[in-house]
Amino acid sequence: MPSPQPAQVVILGASGDLTARKLIPALAAAFRQGHLHPATQVIGVARRPWDDDGFREHLRCAVPSLGDEFLARTRYVLTHLESAEEYRALAARLDALADAAPAHRVYYLAIKPELFLPTLRGLHGAGLLQQAVDGPRRCVVIEKPFGSDLASALALNHALRELLDESQIFRIDHYLGKETVQNLLVLRFRNALFEPLWNQKYIELVQITVAETIGVEGRGAFYDGTGAVRDILQNHLLQILALIAMEPPASLAADDIRDEKVKVLRALRGFAALDPRRHIVRGQYAGYRREAGVDPQSETESFIAVRTYIDTWRWGGVPFLLRTGKALAKRFTSVRLQLRMPPHALFGAPEECHLRPNALTLRIQPNDGVELDFDVKEPGPGLVIKPAKLDFDYAARFGRALPDAYERLLVDVLHGDQSLFIRSDEIEHSWRWIDSLRNAMRDTPLYLYERGSWGPFASDDLFGPCEGRWWCG
Ligand code: BG6
Repeated sequence: MPSPQPAQVVILGASGDLTARKLIPALAAAFRQGHLHPATQVIGVARRPWDDDGFREHLRCAVPSLGDEFLARTRYVLTHLESAEEYRALAARLDALADAAPAHRVYYLAIKPELFLPTLRGLHGAGLLQQAVDGPRRCVVIEKPFGSDLASALALNHALRELLDESQIFRIDHYLGKETVQNLLVLRFRNALFEPLWNQKYIELVQITVAETIGVEGRGAFYDGTGAVRDILQNHLLQILALIAMEPPASLAADDIRDEKVKVLRALRGFAALDPRRHIVRGQYAGYRREAGVDPQSETESFIAVRTYIDTWRWGGVPFLLRTGKALAKRFTSVRLQLRMPPHALFGAPEECHLRPNALTLRIQPNDGVELDFDVKEPGPGLVIKPAKLDFDYAARFGRALPDAYERLLVDVLHGDQSLFIRSDEIEHSWRWIDSLRNAMRDTPLYLYERGSWGPFASDDLFGPCEGRWWCG
């Protein structure tokens, strides 16, 4: 569906890594497939001494597959954005560039978090954020990290409210743009098969993993001040959890979905009442302290696993085990719902108590798909029971690679659709829970783990007896 009106996508911080690695390839793909209005302009704004051609050359080197038609839609504005004068000059330049009016305008903040507010204040001062009723939209896309704890997120939300309406703010979490994450809603609410089982009566335990094989990859300084809890758990992992655990929304309207996600985040049990050593395991991979930009005495966690609960009617008593880490054995993101044993052991108990016959595994990435484990009778004499599997694979079913998450999300921004973006109260409730976790973490040891392993062995102990074990892809 093409964007209904022409738009200017203004990337602030356009010389950075995110622009070349994610934003430009996503915009180019959306343009190629006709998902953007043909008059869309992509305007890079940065301090590098480039002109339009210099910017295009930089993009072409970074993304050799870019077509000339798309490159012809790119422009560059060289500015330091340090004075009101420079913001006014930017406003004049953007107006002059708008070759088809009225155009929506999206400001993508691909800049350091500490520059979010000064930049937005500058844009506001130059009249760049004001939008007329029924006029073209003026939107702002804000990358994570959105705050570093509850207090800073509250302060940032408060400051944003003075400059923008909530409907203009798109807090991006690229996991929400992944097809398989969006499929969670379809799987749950389009199929009569799953939803009746989706509660504490049938589900015994839920585990969610975001595992990466890479280390800090040249981002040592950023990562060391962030850690696994704030880099992945607070955002990507909690967003998946909210979609898995939420009630059916009244409609697919952005606020109906987000209302339900907020209820889940509010119901997450804080750690004040839990024994930290039995609910939290944190680790750091061997060699982390020697990574460039990392403090040689660093106590930052590159692995975190927690056992938590969602205190609602639907999920009362069901453990949710969440884990994420860098430098692990395998890269994958998955959700596994383990079903309870049938009420009567007609065929006897499984030989190993942790082997439950039924589990539903949602493979978010890679090998995106869904698998359902169940037991069958092995053909032949006697009654020998063996595990079997139904397996759905996206690539095999649809025969094409899934689009990149940024592509979908950027097109949604241009359509003004906030369903896959995070509302202020979602951010605040997730930070409230993360703050409680980070407080409790202080009373837990930081385990060292080998690169290429599954993290600290202690994370296995988060499972109770007969509750199973971590699924490893
Ligand atoms: C980012 C984190 O948000 O997500 C990175 O900052 C992480 O540390 C990345 O590597 C993972 O994203 P994906 O899409 O590769 O799973």
